[in-house]
Amino acid sequence: MQKKIALVTGSSSGIGYETALLLARNGFHTCATMRNAEKSESLRKIAEKEKLPIRFVQLDVDDDDSVDRAIGEIEKELGKIDVLINNAGYGLVGGFEDLALDEIRQQFETNLFGVIRVMQRVLPGMRTRRNGIIVNISSGAGIVGFPCMSGYVSTKFALEGLSESIAHELLPFGIKVIIIEPGVIKTDFVRNSVTSIRALNESSAYFDILGKIRENLILMQEHATSPADVAKTIFDAINHREPNLRYVVGNDIAMVAEAKRNLPEAEFRKMMIQDILRDLSKDG
Ligand SMILES: NC(=O)c1ccc[n+]([C@@H]2O[C@H](COP(=O)([O-])OP(=O)(O)OC[C@H]3O[C@@H](n4cnc5c(N)ncnc54)[C@H](OP(=O)(O)O)[C@@H]3O)[C@@H](O)[C@H]2O)c1
Repeated sequence: MQKKIALVTGSSSGIGYETALLLARNGFHTCATMRNAEKSESLRKIAEKEKLPIRFVQLDVDDDDSVDRAIGEIEKELGKIDVLINNAGYGLVGGFEDLALDEIRQQFETNLFGVIRVMQRVLPGMRTRRNGIIVNISSGAGIVGFPCMSGYVSTKFALEGLSESIAHELLPFGIKVIIIEPGVIKTDFVRNSVTSIRALNESSAYFDILGKIRENLILMQEHATSPADVAKTIFDAINHREPNLRYVVGNDIAMVAEAKRNLPEAEFRKMMIQDILRDLSKDG
């Protein structure tokens, strides 16, 4: 049987890295794409040792030419892309007032327009073959709003709406769309997050709140779900004959999502900010 071809964006670390590895270990010819080819070394070593079918391709989701070149090369040499995993992304943190418009634009460029750019380049091939699976890595932040993360949350809510709409639109063409909603995952995500320049200034009205949120996130990351669990959810979903539209990964976000569904709105809102308020009042 012909090997299925999968493309993963942002494979240099975290969820993308684990997903590329799991797919390759399970028979997918995997295109591990990353914007910085120098970061491929660790995955490359494993691939060589285990003789895995991984191809390394430079792809920056922000860059039209890079996306066109990478996907053109893959389609020319491998003939098609069966599975696309849109994983590349980063977090922007800071109180909304402190976010510069350019910082928000850059956040959308990668987390939303990057996904749009890659999907629009891959879709014609999938549609012509009437076959394909697109997996979009959203977030718990695509279900619930979080303080001092409005820029990031906006991109993931937008990605949710986009993915849900095209899931309906593409089904008649044999293309499935899957949304993955991880909670806090043990990756370099927090370390790689960008803090808005104005939010770094101690005179910011949101400086203390942001500090508490950051502390909480770092603590939560220590006991967080592993990126391998996210990869496993992706793998199971793409191998399912009739996958769900959405998969939540991690007990933390499963509980918050359930609370949002079931609690009265005022109670849910209190729950979302209680840690911050308690910590801040403790500090005086
Ligand atoms: N970790 C969490 O708690 C969590 C929770 C929910 C959702 N997510 C989502 O999961 C996805 C992966 O994040 P992660 O946790 O694995 O974090 P990560 O370890 O920081 O990985 C992010 C990946 O995205 C890549 N990337 C960023 N901008 C890019 C661009 N313009 N073009 C190509 N690649 C780019 C990074 O490449 P470089 O190495 O070059 O920077 C890296 O490979 C993101 O979409 C994130 O929003 C994460």
